[in-house]
Amino acid sequence: MHPLARLDHRYVWHPFTQMRDWLRQEPIIIVSGRGSRLYDVHGREFLDANSSIWTNLHGHNHPRLNAALTRQLRKIAHSSALGLANEPAARLAAELVRAARTPRASGPALTKVFYSDDGSTALEVALKLAYEFTRRTRGPGSRPRFLSLEGAYHGDTLGAVALGHIPLFHRTWRKLLFPTDTVMAPYCYRCPFNRARPERADARTYRQCRWECVDAVAGRLEQQKKRRGEPYAAFVLEPLIQGAAGMIPQPAGWLARVSELARAQGVLLIADEVMTGFGRTGLPEPRRLSASHAPLFACQHEKVRPDFLCLAKGLTGGYLPLAATLTTRAVFDAFLGRYDEFKTFFHGHSYTANQLGTATALENLKLLQSRGSFRARIRLQECLARELAALWAVPQVGDIRQVGLVAGVELVRDWTTREPFDLREQAGIRVCQAMARRGVLTRPIGNVVVLMPPYCTRPREVRQIIHTLAEACEEVFGKTPPRGRSGTRRRARP
Ligand SMILES: Cc1ncc(COP(=O)(O)O)c(C=O)c1O
Repeated sequence: MHPLARLDHRYVWHPFTQMRDWLRQEPIIIVSGRGSRLYDVHGREFLDANSSIWTNLHGHNHPRLNAALTRQLRKIAHSSALGLANEPAARLAAELVRAARTPRASGPALTKVFYSDDGSTALEVALKLAYEFTRRTRGPGSRPRFLSLEGAYHGDTLGAVALGHIPLFHRTWRKLLFPTDTVMAPYCYRCPFNRARPERADARTYRQCRWECVDAVAGRLEQQKKRRGEPYAAFVLEPLIQGAAGMIPQPAGWLARVSELARAQGVLLIADEVMTGFGRTGLPEPRRLSASHAPLFACQHEKVRPDFLCLAKGLTGGYLPLAATLTTRAVFDAFLGRYDEFKTFFHGHSYTANQLGTATALENLKLLQSRGSFRARIRLQECLARELAALWAVPQVGDIRQVGLVAGVELVRDWTTREPFDLREQAGIRVCQAMARRGVLTRPIGNVVVLMPPYCTRPREVRQIIHTLAEACEEVFGKTPPRGRSGTRRRARP
């Protein structure tokens, strides 16, 4: 075993990892990266098919991000945001506000930026601000309560965990948490209201339903108002696609509809774009857009302006931990007052507005708005759509769901009935391990294999990733003949 592997085994405790299994094998130890590829201590090369847990955008070791970071490093790495301002943080805030503009959308503009360190803290900030804003605007009798989606994941700090609804991750901490409510999330492939039989196509395209998922939100909002005498303080959601829930995309129009329902009751909208932000959800009509007008955030696809926009992961292009919570003038103003009114937002972190992070994030935004990145994103989105189709030939593939530059491939025991694999069988884990042996790295969410390569990934590399996934399925499940009907595509009800 490599000496670094021995050190790791001896001292490091890895996140979301059963360490007993981890200690049984030599880990892959990454020493360098370039573009879409990672290299380990033995000189092996891997494709980074999940962008290093959804963080990387333009590829590793990017010359422009490297240069921005080293330029800043020559000046200063960090000074406190408590009592001091700094150049890249001020510039970045202005650029984020500009990037988040959504013309012709209803709802207030996002004009203020609160920095923190990662996705979880971006959500904590939104949560605390929404809570206090609600109490201040509705009066001291108000008991602000939050609504989030089934299967939601918003991070691992306790506030974020309270908003989460994945029993495997969240159940243990229940007694430490404040109560929140949950509402049905659209999950067309496994929706109890979808009357369509499984086909070899994305379930959103052939579903047969009456938008019961929207009715469920309407019902939940009404119920809260009637039972508790006041609407929810905020509705927290990931727009267009829920990530850690299993890459579960929303049918077109769902986001706009539920946002309108919430707004009509004065419920604040908290958009968690930790995973979906910075172009990850692609381009709705690529050919009609220009690089500078391409939406960078999922909410913009449906012309939704949230009251809080939570950003992290891709904010620095996958370089450094930095997060931002954007909010409105109205929220900001509710915290203004004379010092002795103690309306200050008493929250912050030692590394808030760190210069290395904010300088890198500024360059990341410039890159995203460049023509080169725009073209790379179109190419990757179209290439993914083309190549993913080959996976319908794999009998264990039940659903393939792509939103822009993200895809989830759900593995099932029997696609004709949607019968899932038991989690204990570790189908997703075994397939990803087989992919790693073939030089492609990603992590599953249960039985869903996530494909989310950096934007610089070339068409032949996308083909390699998809081909490797198919081969890994064959290794893990054996060569099984395709089952059931071949299935034809039908149009979804509008
Ligand atoms: C949607 C979403 N929100 C929040 C988080 C938490 O982010 P972090 O791991 O940076 O704390 C994640 C992480 O995967 C996420 O996917």
